[in-house]
Amino acid sequence: MRGLEKSYKELRVLRGVDLDVARGSIFALLGSNGAGKTTVVRILSTLLKADAGSARVNGFDVATQGADVRESISLTGQFAAVDEILTGRENLVMVARLRHLKNTGAIADDLLSRFSLTEAGARRVGTYSGGMRRRLDIAMSLIGDPPVIFLDEPTTGLDPQARIEVWQAVRKLAEGGTTVLLTTQYLDEAEQLADRIAILHEGRIIVDGTLDELKRLLPPAKVEYVEKQPTLEDVFLALVGTATKGEQR
Ligand SMILES: Nc1ncnc2c1ncn2[C@@H]1O[C@H](COP(=O)(O)OP(=O)(O)OP(=O)(O)O)[C@@H](O)[C@H]1O
Ligand SMILES: [Mg+2]
Repeated sequence: MRGLEKSYKELRVLRGVDLDVARGSIFALLGSNGAGKTTVVRILSTLLKADAGSARVNGFDVATQGADVRESISLTGQFAAVDEILTGRENLVMVARLRHLKNTGAIADDLLSRFSLTEAGARRVGTYSGGMRRRLDIAMSLIGDPPVIFLDEPTTGLDPQARIEVWQAVRKLAEGGTTVLLTTQYLDEAEQLADRIAILHEGRIIVDGTLDELKRLLPPAKVEYVEKQPTLEDVFLALVGTATKGEQR
């Protein structure tokens, strides 16, 4: 992205956004409510035109090569886009057919198992919990193995176990070479997942770096001796247990 600008009437949301996301990396875009994260994602996925500046996705210009960009990406929007009347498996089969793939049933079954949805696969999505919908939504976006994936606040509203499951899924994607650009308001999510982190504030990227680089922006921590207290999340996870015992970083 170079110099991306976007206004809604007088509201100047993006005022020159410059960002590079390395192929095969996980990049987290942080920002408060209304900072413009979804606007960036919508421009990169060709749903919205920028007023100025340029952006390339998988080598294709979003303004002039929209069809090539769309073939290279998949987008999991901020709000789950699943069909409630169909079952989870039917949702997956539908997307696989829309992508003109063969063996749609096998693709659906594989994704159901990767996202711990096999048992729920034959149930209507209307009966799913929020976390199950979110996992199904992400599973749908993986069909066809697009090289670039946008995840707009993938874990907002999920319980701690479901968040960890989504994180594991995202890590597996990156290990497989997929480029992931995710937006989040959860700072721990960025710490857990991202190779690089950028903060969008008042229309511009105010910092961009690895976690270590960002931490070095503040004075080094003083050494203090305090009793280590478990966090509420530790307590919650110890009592409830993690759904899939995962490799946390
Ligand atoms: N279609 C639109 N018309 C007018 N204003 C809009 C439109 N879409 C977004 N905005 C405004 O642009 C700003 C940025 O919105 P955007 O959705 O990109 O923020 P965000 O960083 O994704 O926020 P959140 O964390 O709440 O999802 C907000 O002030 C929003 O009200
Ligand atoms: Mg948003």
